[in-house]
Amino acid sequence: EVPPEPKLSDLRDPLPPHWKCYMSPQGRRYYVNTTNNETTWERPSSVPGTPKTSFRHKNSLPAGTTHVSLSACLGAVNCPHCGALSLSLSLSLSLSLSLSLFLSQINCVTFPSPVCMPEQQLLKPNEWSYCDYFWTDKKDPQGNGCITGFEVLLQKQLKGKQMQKEMAEFIRERIKIEEEYAKNLSKLSQIPLAGQEEGTLGEAWAQLKKSLADEAEVHLKFSSKLQSEVEKPFLIFRENFKKDMKRFDHHIADLRKQLAGRYAAVEKARKALADRQKELELKTQQLEIKLSNKIEEDIKKARRKSTQAGDDLMRCVDLYNQSQSKWFEEMVTTSLELERLEVERVEMIRQHLCQYTTLRHETDMFNQSTMEPVDKLLQCVDPAKDRELWVQENKTGEIRPVNIEI
Ligand SMILES: *[C@@H]1O[C@H](CO)[C@@H](O)[C@H](O)[C@H]1NC(C)=O
Ligand SMILES: *[C@@H]1O[C@H](CO)[C@@H](O)[C@H](O)[C@H]1NC(C)=O
Ligand SMILES: *[C@@H]1O[C@H](CO)[C@@H](O)[C@H](O)[C@H]1NC(C)=O
Ligand SMILES: *[C@@H]1O[C@H](CO)[C@@H](O)[C@H](O)[C@H]1NC(C)=O
Repeated sequence: EVPPEPKLSDLRDPLPPHWKCYMSPQGRRYYVNTTNNETTWERPSSVPGTPKTSFRHKNSLPAGTTHVSLSACLGAVNCPHCGALSLSLSLSLSLSLSLSLFLSQINCVTFPSPVCMPEQQLLKPNEWSYCDYFWTDKKDPQGNGCITGFEVLLQKQLKGKQMQKEMAEFIRERIKIEEEYAKNLSKLSQIPLAGQEEGTLGEAWAQLKKSLADEAEVHLKFSSKLQSEVEKPFLIFRENFKKDMKRFDHHIADLRKQLAGRYAAVEKARKALADRQKELELKTQQLEIKLSNKIEEDIKKARRKSTQAGDDLMRCVDLYNQSQSKWFEEMVTTSLELERLEVERVEMIRQHLCQYTTLRHETDMFNQSTMEPVDKLLQCVDPAKDRELWVQENKTGEIRPVNIEI
């Protein structure tokens, strides 16, 4: 199908901020709010005061997995793969077409058969979006059973959360080293060793000891900033995360369960229809052998039953379609939400690691500034001046002795 030309009004009225236009698998335009993942068929208007009437869930997104382009598939009718799903030729053609010929079924989700690949387009081309690549179930790497594509996404989220927690632990260790180092420096600065040194050298020595205390201060500040500006944000980010994930998981799993139930109902209705059709054929054959009013009456009855079974099947398929539609819609919305959360997580961690390096550089700078006064005083150390001062204070007499002269 060819996507519809953009309407004139689309060009005149640009989308409001954060809204993007995408193409459904059927080639129909729909709109996604990239901040809250609201989806709608109706083009949101950026003109102030224009009410936006349709919100998420008001209109269903297309059940993209069930729609197959007939033209792409007609050549494949004889294909052994296509026929693999018990095709009862006595079924009415339209039903068998829509149910088994062009569809393959994996864990009660119907996909276009691999040999008749439909012209499905990605929902978000070129973005490698979560909403485009996790539709199929996958063998559990531990061997037993399957996990859904959605569970793969959830596992990624939970692992991300764990990594973030471990980063916080790592930063805690870093903080501890700084704290201990600061404590040691400050202790050392208070040791009275060489406190008796005098003069300019004594001043320089005292400053050197004091610089240890200043340095200790710098390291203490670094550690407390690490704590408040790096470790804490890591720990508080997404406090309810696991709960939210569980909620998502249950919601999607419930929809899948409903889908499975309705798929089973379709299968059952299909079998029932096949039986009715067989009965009708049988009666028709009997009539060819022998004309009789009773058989004609039976045929009428069988035809009615068969029609009813067909209606039943239609109803079941409709219910299945609705289920799949709902599941599809929730998968898109929720996986986009997970995608947003992951981007947010990576961005947040990056920011705080940058904060770490900034703080570390600052520490070096302050560190250096604690040394500056020491350097200055060391340059002023002047043994001659020290001697002068010392002599002035402690001199005991400048009158020299003289010889005895007789
Ligand atoms: C601090 O001093 C203690 C001994 O008093 C020592 O075991 C520890 O390694 C020192 N820590 C640092 C970071 O220098
Ligand atoms: C099933 O889904 C398709 C595609 O959304 C729709 O056209 C059709 O009417 C639905 N119901 C049946 C019974 O095929
Ligand atoms: C800052 O202080 C620490 C500990 O005294 C030291 O290892 C580091 O080299 C210092 N950096 C600068 C730039 O002075
Ligand atoms: C030198 O003089 C100062 C100041 O009067 C005094 O504190 C110090 O004890 C004296 N040193 C000696 C070795 O007597």
